[in-house]
Amino acid sequence: MLPDGETHYTITSFAMATFVLLFYDLYYAEFYIAGSKRGSYVMEKKRRIVTRRLDEEDNSQVRKRSWRPGTMLAPVPAVMVSCGGAKDYKPNIITLAWAGTVCSEPPLLSVSIRPSRYSYEIISKTGEFVVNVTTAKLARATDWCGVKSGRDFDKFEHCRLTPFPSDIVKAPGIAECPINMECQVRRVLKLGSHDMFIAEIKAVHVSEELLDKRGKLRLDKAELLAFSHGEYFVLGSRLGHFGYSVRKK
Ligand SMILES: Cc1cc2nc3c(=O)[nH]c(=O)nc-3n(C[C@H](O)[C@H](O)[C@H](O)COP(=O)(O)O)c2cc1C
Repeated sequence: MLPDGETHYTITSFAMATFVLLFYDLYYAEFYIAGSKRGSYVMEKKRRIVTRRLDEEDNSQVRKRSWRPGTMLAPVPAVMVSCGGAKDYKPNIITLAWAGTVCSEPPLLSVSIRPSRYSYEIISKTGEFVVNVTTAKLARATDWCGVKSGRDFDKFEHCRLTPFPSDIVKAPGIAECPINMECQVRRVLKLGSHDMFIAEIKAVHVSEELLDKRGKLRLDKAELLAFSHGEYFVLGSRLGHFGYSVRKK
């Protein structure tokens, strides 16, 4: 038992400490919401607030960490883009993970490339390239073409890849890849670390060995390569097809 005076004193200190902590929390939360950049400390505060909300709302096992904003989209394709073969540039290959489909009509795709890359110079000057879809068998070559520069190596020769003559553009495709898309640059967006080349797909080539008797492309047999958080994976088992979730069983 504490004497009366001491009890009062303990309760008052406890109440004040609670108030100070609450104010501190709200102060930082408000600054975060107002868009203030207070670095990891504020992120940690935000994480705590988010976690707490989840605790309060559903008491489930869901726990999230808030990370610094970054490029976390996964998986993405790791493609080998061939370029050159025109304007004094011999054919070269660059591996790109920042690539994607951006429009169906006209068929457009995008590739984002740092200006320091040799291929950036080539694609800027020639305005064309070929996107080659990669497979598990080509994983090593895909990685190699993504760590060595065409300024120092002939990548076709080193990786024993076969240049495949294109129909429209001067850059050759890579014969060993199951899909080759000949592209012409339509727009360049300067975004920051990377410039995005938006290009029209002018011709497509697919490997005959992946066509079934009816001419359907069996990409499920191609062992396509995916890139996820810095690692390569081979595409696994098929789970369904477009719209299967609403089809009658
Ligand atoms: C898996 C992987 C993905 C890559 N993605 C990109 C990318 O999207 N954009 C880019 O500018 N560089 C990317 N790189 C780095 C380039 O491929 C690398 O710098 C290459 O050596 C450049 O070749 P070059 O100098 O012959 O053009 C990637 C590398 C790897 C291994």
